[in-house]
Amino acid sequence: MGTILPMDLFPDTAAVEHGHLAVAGVPASTLAEEHGTPLLVLCEATIRARARAYREAAPDALVVYGTKAFPNVSVMRLLAEEGLGADVSTLGELRFAQRAGIGGDVLVVHGNNKDDAELAEAAAADALVVLDALDEVERAAAAGVGRTLVRMTLGVEAETHEAIRTGQHGSKFGLPPEQALEVIERARPLGLHVHIGSQLLDGGAARLTVDRLAEFAAQCRERLGWTPEVVDLGGGLGVRTSPDEPGPPSIADFVRELLAQLGSAWALHDLPRPRLILEPGRSIVGPSGVTLYRVGVVKHVSESVAWVAVDGGMSDNPRPQLYGARYTALLANRADEAAAGTYRIAGKHCESGDVLIDRVELPEPCRGDLLAVPATGAYTLAMASNYNGVPRPAAVLVGNGSARVIRQRESVDELLARET
Ligand code: LLP
Repeated sequence: MGTILPMDLFPDTAAVEHGHLAVAGVPASTLAEEHGTPLLVLCEATIRARARAYREAAPDALVVYGTKAFPNVSVMRLLAEEGLGADVSTLGELRFAQRAGIGGDVLVVHGNNKDDAELAEAAAADALVVLDALDEVERAAAAGVGRTLVRMTLGVEAETHEAIRTGQHGSKFGLPPEQALEVIERARPLGLHVHIGSQLLDGGAARLTVDRLAEFAAQCRERLGWTPEVVDLGGGLGVRTSPDEPGPPSIADFVRELLAQLGSAWALHDLPRPRLILEPGRSIVGPSGVTLYRVGVVKHVSESVAWVAVDGGMSDNPRPQLYGARYTALLANRADEAAAGTYRIAGKHCESGDVLIDRVELPEPCRGDLLAVPATGAYTLAMASNYNGVPRPAAVLVGNGSARVIRQRESVDELLARET
């Protein structure tokens, strides 16, 4: 593996010209001036390329976007143009998918605690509903849900942060094999669902899951005379957010190996070939996004610690605090200057843990500089909060030399409007 330059973490169309970062031909400084900061910049070409990579690697599969990574109507419309549907896990996400024109035939509805309204709306949309509890068999049937899968755990401990690991027995998601069998007996679902975790940097756990799933499917045939017509393997492929960390396999390699495993495991048990569903979220939007922040205070508090404070932080990207995620950055307006030292990037929130980046080499930053943090398209704005009364940032989609707002910036007035 060669050296990973920070530029490799930026979207496909990112380039530095005369020291200025541009995405899809639009200078970051222009975006920041016109739309303010913090600003999430998403590259349309990168989103499309990554969606196509899934479609090309698995042409017969249904690929549904894991909406939770960044619920956004414009992004979902664009993905629908590329032939993707959506995986939604709440009524809100379902509404986003519907607003994007995504029909029930390519909608998968999840949730470990679906309420009656969610089941009723899923039924009305004629979506595929993933049963996640024993009592959902009757509740989904009563709501009029027609097509179902059952989500199960197969005791696979994927290598990722424990907060986003979901395939182990004891998970709050899915059902262990004996209970999944009970659901199959009662509901006669279309097939099986597994999602073992997120930010996976290796396909090994996913392939082991496929082997165990085939064994389980063979057991279903023996005990119930039932085999899955549909197999949904969830999402999970990770993205690199820091040059100091290992990278994931490419979408093409990850999916190719998964398909090969599915083919051989199913053949081993002589099972009828199922229709495949994949649910990628992060690997589609993560590398497509760059967050722009304005540099404010720069403090050299000791010989070894230099703080650079930006105008956002844990309210627009809580991943460092939640999962120990590591990011990198460059100065978008001085991207060709040599590093002058190592800096710690702090957010503006009122706690010491509000550190966006622990260590990054930069030219000496000055007030007003623009800091660009790549690989921030997934689970950042999606998990943003109003901590400290901070309005949530805007998002723009850039393509072919122009930018369009796809999520408006919140205002303090909007926050106040909800106060009584
Ligand atoms: N399908 C199901 C059933 C899921 O639960 C998830 C993610 C996905 C698909 C999409 O997974 P992806 O391809 O994005 O890994 N907030 C966390 C990630 C939570 C993932 C939840 N489920 C983070 O920032 O790392």
